[in-house]
Amino acid sequence: NEGSLWGGRFADGPAAAMAALSKSTHFDWALAPFDIEASMAHARVLHRAGLLSDADRSAMLAGLSQLAADVADGTFVPAQSDEDVHGALERGLIERVGPELGGRLRAGRSRNDQVATLFRMWLRAAMRRVALGLLDVVDALADQAESHPDAVMPGKTHLQAAQPVLLAHHLLAHAHPLLRDIDRLADADRRTAVSPYGSGALAGSSLGLDPAAIATDLGFDRAAENSIDATSSRDFAAEGAFVLAMIGVDLSRLSEEIILWSTPEFGYVTLADAWSTGSSIMPQKKNPDVAELTRGKSGRLIGNLTGLLATLKAQPLAYNRDLQEDKEPVFDSVAQLDLLLPAITGLVATLEFHTDRMAELAPAGFTLATDIAEWMVRQGIPFRVAHEVAGASVRAAEERGVGLADLDDATLASISPDLRPEVREVLTVRGSIESRNAQGGTASVQVARQLSDVRADVARR
Ligand code: ARG
Repeated sequence: NEGSLWGGRFADGPAAAMAALSKSTHFDWALAPFDIEASMAHARVLHRAGLLSDADRSAMLAGLSQLAADVADGTFVPAQSDEDVHGALERGLIERVGPELGGRLRAGRSRNDQVATLFRMWLRAAMRRVALGLLDVVDALADQAESHPDAVMPGKTHLQAAQPVLLAHHLLAHAHPLLRDIDRLADADRRTAVSPYGSGALAGSSLGLDPAAIATDLGFDRAAENSIDATSSRDFAAEGAFVLAMIGVDLSRLSEEIILWSTPEFGYVTLADAWSTGSSIMPQKKNPDVAELTRGKSGRLIGNLTGLLATLKAQPLAYNRDLQEDKEPVFDSVAQLDLLLPAITGLVATLEFHTDRMAELAPAGFTLATDIAEWMVRQGIPFRVAHEVAGASVRAAEERGVGLADLDDATLASISPDLRPEVREVLTVRGSIESRNAQGGTASVQVARQLSDVRADVARR
């Protein structure tokens, strides 16, 4: 049973279907660079514990360096007979340093503490990469906001015309969730940065190894407190999968809006040719596929999270082979975001906004009705009454087929004696926007301040 890590007590090799089921090299090969890095740290720990001579340590590290180079350039790849990345790499090491020395490296460690450690290392690197990709999306949103300081648009609730807002305000509303997602990645990293190495199969190591030293060596904050927990828990992976799914959902909401905005019915934006696709039958089509794939893949990311949680839910402690199912969903979520983030950045950066059209639609649907009510409140009228009067104004304007600002003095007076002609002063989109001047509001000074806060937040990271 050559190349296997566990042949001793077996008279026979595994059945072909057993081996096929067991095999994980087609996905866990992604852990290979981390496996070798951890093996180098392990060799140093074995040496310090007196289990490797100086010469053995040097030869082992040289063999591992050679193996790392051969993995990196594709000279060394898993063989058909390799069950997983750990077995394949032990075979590779033995091929380079011989069976006597190569067979010493495995002392004091198990694939159980190894795989838990390597998965954490892989995920930490991936989360850092995703955070950088997210910052690019935030930058693209902030750039568009900065390029359109004065543009107005119809703000909506229930997808119905609500109140006019600045386009920059709306774009920044998509930047904030993404900045929180970056915070979530950093926070998840605090719990992922704990090393299981030295936990062995489940009970810890008896060979005088130093888990704290190896944790530091591998860039972890500390070593795990409990070897049973360290080898069997995957909440770090589920938490990572959640943050990745949340990112998918946040990008999906942005995408859904871009899809709507690019329809002729909205007419807010034109998509750049480079970030859209055509139709094989309808020559006029320009489709928002980047946004649709983002929306679609968010479903897949949610599925990866729920699938992983289901895998974890009924497992007794400590390690079970079920845990081999932990990696693919998380690898997949990261792979999808690696594809999506640059594309959504490109899509957002090249959106061409039709600000005249948006300005024309901003007051449509009586979006200034709230401004009538709030004007009356400033005149001392109770809001409950003011709301009724503003509502009656909408009804009157609707009946006459005019805008709120077009109601004549007599009509205003007939609705309420308190509705004096001066109310028209607040019945402009610009006036409505600039009046919402408290922190977080849509007034241009507030949005400009918000934009510089977002820029400073990005620069800090
Ligand atoms: N390929 C396994 C995994 O991904 C590695 C650990 C296997 N351990 C074991 N005792 N069979 O979880």
